[in-house]
Amino acid sequence: MSKKILITGGAGFIGSHVVRLFVNKYPSYHIFNLDALTYAGNLENIKDIAEATNYTFIKGDINDVNFLNTLFDEHKFDGVIHLAAESHVDRSIKNPNIFIETNVIGTANLLSAFKDACQSDFKNKLFYNISTDEVYGSLGKTGLFTEETPYDPQSPYAASKAASDHMVRAFGNTFQLPFIISNCSNNYGANHFPEKLIPLCIHNIKKNKSLPVYGDGQYTRDWLFVEDHANAIDLIFHEGKVGETYNIGGCNEWTNLDLVHLLCELMDEKLDREKGHSAKLITFVKDRAGHDRRYAIDASKLMNELGWRPSVSFEEGLVKTINWYFTNEKWLTNVTSGSYKDYYKNMYH
Ligand code: NAD
Ligand code: TYD
Repeated sequence: MSKKILITGGAGFIGSHVVRLFVNKYPSYHIFNLDALTYAGNLENIKDIAEATNYTFIKGDINDVNFLNTLFDEHKFDGVIHLAAESHVDRSIKNPNIFIETNVIGTANLLSAFKDACQSDFKNKLFYNISTDEVYGSLGKTGLFTEETPYDPQSPYAASKAASDHMVRAFGNTFQLPFIISNCSNNYGANHFPEKLIPLCIHNIKKNKSLPVYGDGQYTRDWLFVEDHANAIDLIFHEGKVGETYNIGGCNEWTNLDLVHLLCELMDEKLDREKGHSAKLITFVKDRAGHDRRYAIDASKLMNELGWRPSVSFEEGLVKTINWYFTNEKWLTNVTSGSYKDYYKNMYH
């Protein structure tokens, strides 16, 4: 069936994998990629599909209401997969307001534009909000986040994503706008901006620079390969139940310190360095304010109801990721020159 689908944030890390998957897998769909190209957006991430006949890139800001209304009126999208966001917790601590603008108000702008363009005829339409497990707050030593876990966001980023989810549900309840929300754990893979832990460490190990581990390094995250997240999004978009929430996670918990040690081992092998060389770069630094201790996802609803499974083990995924950063050295050089240098200095010195 032919469909017009708007994917927002498709020049970013996860969005680029979702856009590529949809453009290649569904030749009868037309995929519109709306992205403001902030520091995190990069057309290099999707250059391989730039010329596809079923693909259009639109540079635009979800905070621009007039632009959005015109766009939705013109195209009457069948579906929206919404990923555009400010996504880095540390930046949300330094500047919360831009997270409120883009993640909360930007999402509300999109919902309104979608609702108005549909003129309340939502037959076969869907608004799919891509969210995070961080909305649930922090876990203790045991337990997992389920779809029923109450929201308890702790960082400005998490609060803005929680508010975005609330806004989507409110439009569902008030205007019968058909929606789905998924909340995913930490992703890793190609195109990941090196402000986040894994690509930052890969970059620094290559350069023999110190590896900043916050606090005691015992904070725990549940890591998922980004292509497995994109596959889950595809499955949920096509087979998920309207009005439902799905948790997505890797069943793959690591403390930050163990993870950085594993990266050091894999990178020493790759770089033909003496065993233990890179681990000497590990440096404990001041903790993140309000740092969530542990995230871990119960993805059994997605697995049991829709049959989703992650496709790669963590070690396979990490090796693929490291190899990608080695074959895409220019990408890394480009994104770490310019404003990244100021960000890094500000953040770590
Ligand atoms: P990212 O920061 O790599 O990409 C965000 C993209 O959104 C960029 O291309 C940026 O240019 C675009 N964007 C930002 N502000 C915009 C605006 N005002 N208008 C239009 N475009 C704008 O983020 P990511 O890691 O790919 O995350 C994508 C989504 O997935 C986010 O909603 C995030 O909350 C969610 N998520 C991320 C993770 C993760 O581990 N990275 C996990 C779960 C959920
Ligand atoms: P990050 O990749 O920023 O993802 P999130 O905050 O969304 O979980 O961080 C992952 C974990 O690694 C988190 O516990 C914070 C920690 N961390 C460090 O210890 N050092 C760093 O330089 C960064 C960026 C993160």
